[in-house]
Amino acid sequence: MKAKLKVVSPQKITKTRATILEISNLRKVFQVNDTYLNVLEGINFTAANGELICILGRSGCGKSTLLKILAGFIPPSSGTVLLNGQSVTTPGPDRCVVFQEDTLFPWLTVQENIAFGLKPQTREKNVIREEVDLFLALVGLTEFKNYLPREISGGMKQRVALARVLVLKPDILLMDEPFASLDTYTREEMQNLLLSLWEKLSHTVLFVTHDVNEAVTLADRILVMDKDPGRVQEEIHVDLKRPRKKESREFLQYSQYLYEILRR
Ligand SMILES: Nc1ncnc2c1ncn2[C@@H]1O[C@H](COP(=O)(O)OP(=O)(O)OP(=O)(O)O)[C@@H](O)[C@H]1O
Ligand SMILES: [Mg+2]
Repeated sequence: MKAKLKVVSPQKITKTRATILEISNLRKVFQVNDTYLNVLEGINFTAANGELICILGRSGCGKSTLLKILAGFIPPSSGTVLLNGQSVTTPGPDRCVVFQEDTLFPWLTVQENIAFGLKPQTREKNVIREEVDLFLALVGLTEFKNYLPREISGGMKQRVALARVLVLKPDILLMDEPFASLDTYTREEMQNLLLSLWEKLSHTVLFVTHDVNEAVTLADRILVMDKDPGRVQEEIHVDLKRPRKKESREFLQYSQYLYEILRR
């Protein structure tokens, strides 16, 4: 039986909240030797302020490429990305990225890693200490503030990675499969942590995943991507109260429906 789901257009969502991000006709072609690879084609969507969007798709559909363009790390072949009405062409402090792999500075302690990005913003040590302490507490790592990255677990490293970007108060948090290498239990803990931080800080989140359950657990809206070329195949508004229970009938309906789309 097919699940009854609301497929909501981005316009409907942005009616109630201001649009923060607007992506129009985005296209990305990579050239490798004599071959042109059409990776992204006709990507159009908007994100409302404070929305949590998951970008779901199979390996190689262009999810990371899309995120890199939004971060300003690579340019699109054509199309535009507008953040707060301004064109995105370079990386900026208004967008922060959390990757799957560990990107902490190995020679800095947990608190120094979190403080690092604040230094260009302020030289006042008291301000930096207060902010770092607040974010250490928010991610539950106060006791580990003097540890080096090699002395903490993978889950804890991702907590530091989250604190390190959230302390900068970005408008948009871009996350590329940040919990993919964690075990199921730790992954669930991190999903809950992300949701609680998002509820407290109300930033906009674009979260890339290939995991259907992760997308249904987290998202206000899921953009399902197609492959060759990467396009947004379908948009699904997840109309479930949080916290969402994986065993519930409604949750299963969403995940079954998404599996159906991904298998097409
Ligand atoms: N710099 C590059 N040069 C050439 N081709 C690239 C480059 N970056 C990505 N690609 C190609 O673009 C396609 C999409 O890659 P991308 O990493 O965006 O996929 P993905 O959806 O993030 O996959 P995964 O789920 O495995 O991380 C792949 O075929 C990849 O080989
Ligand atoms: Mg990827």
